[in-house]
Amino acid sequence: MANPDPSGTSPTIVIAIDGPAASGKSTVARALASHLGYRFLNSGDLYRAMTWACLKLGVDCRDTGAVATAAGQARIEVGCEGIDYYPLIDGNDPRRHLRDDQVNINVSPVSAVPAVRYILSAAIRTHAQGRQTVIEGRDIGSAVFPETPYKFYIDAPPQVRQRRRRNQGQMEEISRRDLIDSTRATDPLTIAPGATVIDTSTLDVQGVVAAILERLKEQGLA
Ligand code: CDP
Repeated sequence: MANPDPSGTSPTIVIAIDGPAASGKSTVARALASHLGYRFLNSGDLYRAMTWACLKLGVDCRDTGAVATAAGQARIEVGCEGIDYYPLIDGNDPRRHLRDDQVNINVSPVSAVPAVRYILSAAIRTHAQGRQTVIEGRDIGSAVFPETPYKFYIDAPPQVRQRRRRNQGQMEEISRRDLIDSTRATDPLTIAPGATVIDTSTLDVQGVVAAILERLKEQGLA
């Protein structure tokens, strides 16, 4: 995708929204982007796209070396539809496969491979240059954009998150993914220093967005 500001004068603004699976962060991040007139990037979709590409190649996702090799050969690009960025991999649009069972099962092991994180973090950083983006993920405030002042950690107790995911008709093992994501050696899920933590168990989407906007206002942004 072409840089939206060839003159290079458009500021790079990143609002980082991190948190565990099914904390509600995607819905919140997208609503926030829409409210601010920003674009929305779900970095998890890039990790899911890379996992899908590995599976398509027949790579054993537990084989760290094979995953790293496949990631090194993949061509990752970012498309845009409305306010949403989405991944393209080797020219393919994998969106309809991103929540396939095999992707759900393998995405956390693939995401724990340092080469995968290095490649996707670099792609996300490059893409965000000169843009105003709400980016959600696991390590956006802690590792990808540690310099952004706008960092939020969206959380909810495990029972609430399990229930939400069941309500969405997906029986993912979110506790297994959370365990892998928060204990991996490279860029684990963690609360970034300076992040505002919001527990969503008693708040609806608008309530969480309002809390974020209030904090951004204090910081002089919204
Ligand atoms: O939607 P949900 O919160 O369940 O997950 P997701 O955002 O689609 O992310 C899927 C997986 O990608 C996570 O469980 C992590 O293993 C990985 N991920 C990551 O490692 N780093 C990110 N910045 C985003 C996602």
